[in-house]
Amino acid sequence: MTQPSGSAKLTVEGREFDLPVYSASAGPKVIDIRSLYSKANVFTFDPGFTSTAACESAITFIDGERGQLQYRGYPIEQLAERSRFLEVCYLLLYNKLPNQQEFDDFRTSVTMHTMVHEQLINFYRGFRRDAHPMAIITGVVGALSAFYHDSTDISDPEQREIACIRMIAKLPTIAAMAYKYSIGQPYVYPRNDYRYAENFHYMCFSVPAGKYRSYEEVNRALDLIFLLHADHEQNASTSTVRLAGSSGANPFACIAAGIACLWGPAHGGANEACLRMLREIGSVDRIPEYIGRAKDRSDPFRLMGFGHRVYKNFDPRAHIMKKTADEVLDLVGSQNKPTLQVAKELERIALEDEYFQTRKLYPNVDFYSGIILDAVGFPTDMFTPIFALSRTVGWISQWKEMIADPIQKIGRPRQRYTGPVNLNYIPIEER
Ligand code: ACO
Repeated sequence: MTQPSGSAKLTVEGREFDLPVYSASAGPKVIDIRSLYSKANVFTFDPGFTSTAACESAITFIDGERGQLQYRGYPIEQLAERSRFLEVCYLLLYNKLPNQQEFDDFRTSVTMHTMVHEQLINFYRGFRRDAHPMAIITGVVGALSAFYHDSTDISDPEQREIACIRMIAKLPTIAAMAYKYSIGQPYVYPRNDYRYAENFHYMCFSVPAGKYRSYEEVNRALDLIFLLHADHEQNASTSTVRLAGSSGANPFACIAAGIACLWGPAHGGANEACLRMLREIGSVDRIPEYIGRAKDRSDPFRLMGFGHRVYKNFDPRAHIMKKTADEVLDLVGSQNKPTLQVAKELERIALEDEYFQTRKLYPNVDFYSGIILDAVGFPTDMFTPIFALSRTVGWISQWKEMIADPIQKIGRPRQRYTGPVNLNYIPIEER
């Protein structure tokens, strides 16, 4: 760590403690409380980590109030307009935009690893056909460490590097195989002459019996979904990857942990939950009923695809995604779909409603990405796997950064204990 930029005073029951304050290159400063427990015998209490920086990171910066998102210092709007997902992968992993030669070499490395070990197919067969693809992907990614022994030694930088490339290369194949398995179609092997997003679309939608056709607009929209979801600093799944990795677990196990966390409906599962909600609402005239439920504190229902822990004015990714959603919907001619009509009206009403305005609840990126994925033919249970394959580069970049960080140590939160103490054991026959 650099030199402190100042100090903070904390008074605990009359005793005063000086704590160093460190500035950040952007965003809030941090108060270093690492010595607090040993000096003051107190813990800080912050369930949900709303005021806690768990690490130093130079990968992604978010300003939730201003609605800003930057990867390695580049605003997301510029990257979305001018870059492509694979170039952004390079940027996140290596902290610079590649020149042409570097990009070509990187692309070759990724495409050389897109196939999975043939024996992995047996693993798929062990799952029920109706298994959720996220369940399959969590299992299969965890199992990769049993197939690629030559990239599990985290102390070897070369093995770490291969693990990163393997993960970025294989996740689309693994996700597409989970989809094909669930619908009973043969697996489609990757094609390295296709670009990253197009190859994924190909593995999901081509069949041996027919001619495969893709549309540049759809490939571009998919690429954009990947790019906008590529990283988002210390969110729940990334923190899970870091916590798992802090014990020295291998990278495949860590990413599997991240995928499991992403599945939850408050996180990556929101895009799927959002589409299911739009279908459940069904028609525009039922929207007021659902808005009423969302506002009712005694009803656990929430409008899926609305709100964000960090963005409290707007989600910059949602702005970009909304524009693309309109383009894709024009292309595939699904403007008259009931779900889309419900989505548009819900968005309009919620944005004008005082409850949502005062709580700064806006449609998030997953509100629009779900609509796009639905329009281009992905079933809802593939939405979160697509988020997972997009976020893999972020997880693995954060894992790589953590392993190389000299101040990193095993993550071990403490607690405020509220249970009983010093009870006497009573034999079972006396209870
Ligand atoms: N619908 C209705 N009310 C909501 C919603 C919503 N989607 N989100 C928050 N609120 C209300 C809460 O009830 C609370 O109201 P109150 O102050 O009257 O009690 C207030 O807004 C603040 O809510 P919190 O839960 O404290 O906000 P938090 O920042 O912890 O939650 C979260 C953020 C989890 C994203 C939440 O907004 C939510 O559940 N949204 C729906 C799920 C979703 O879309 N998740 C995707 C996140 S984006 C991503 O993972 C890429």
